[in-house]
Amino acid sequence: MTAIGMKKKKIWTDLAERSGRYLDQWGIFFRQFVRHPGMIGSVIPSSQQLVDTMLEGVDWQRTRLFVEYGPGIGTFTRTILDRLPADATLLAIDLNADFIDYLGRHIADPRLRLVHGSAADVERYVGEAGHAQADYVLSGLPFSTLPEGVGPAICDRTRAILRPGGSFLVYQYSARVRGLLAPRFTELAERWEWRNVPPCRAFYARTDMALERAA
Ligand SMILES: C[S@@+](CC[C@H](N)C(=O)[O-])C[C@H]1O[C@@H](n2cnc3c(N)ncnc32)[C@H](O)[C@@H]1O
Repeated sequence: MTAIGMKKKKIWTDLAERSGRYLDQWGIFFRQFVRHPGMIGSVIPSSQQLVDTMLEGVDWQRTRLFVEYGPGIGTFTRTILDRLPADATLLAIDLNADFIDYLGRHIADPRLRLVHGSAADVERYVGEAGHAQADYVLSGLPFSTLPEGVGPAICDRTRAILRPGGSFLVYQYSARVRGLLAPRFTELAERWEWRNVPPCRAFYARTDMALERAA
């Protein structure tokens, strides 16, 4: 085979491998949705465009602890690890044991701490990770289908573990979560990510900056 022929073959092999990996991940995600629709809240994982939109304002150099709620198959997790400083920690909490098991088998990174549990217990998990506060919390939780009372409890506990000036980043198909964020956070910004399927809302909630300046 000529050099050009070999190069073409490699491109097709890489493409086939990558597509196979995506289909595999989507299959796992879809199967979990069929089993636990209320817990998963979406048929397919988030898009890379949504990942970039949610993470675009993060001050990575100041980040020591980044918490992710509902990592699923790791759509955000991998990009967070790509950008996270070498001495920082990513604490990823998911209620679904199959997702935590999948991530443990597919991502080998000493900065990643996986927890099978509920985001409502985040304070305990942050303490067990050796931290007092988090710089960022990112949430992929389906707030509109969580059991009664769980959404407000998670928002309260998140507010409590964020450092002054820390941010709660929430992506969501429904606007209902706005009513949970607005009374708990000092600043709240919102935008659409139209390139996600389906289009998705991005909320950026921040704790009091004045406290950060006083600290
Ligand atoms: C819409 S999926 C998001 C998956 C992935 N982050 C993405 O963007 O493709 C919601 C995730 O939240 C998890 N989840 C639901 N309730 C939870 C809770 N109380 N605590 C932690 N994770 C939870 C589900 O198991 C699932 O992985």
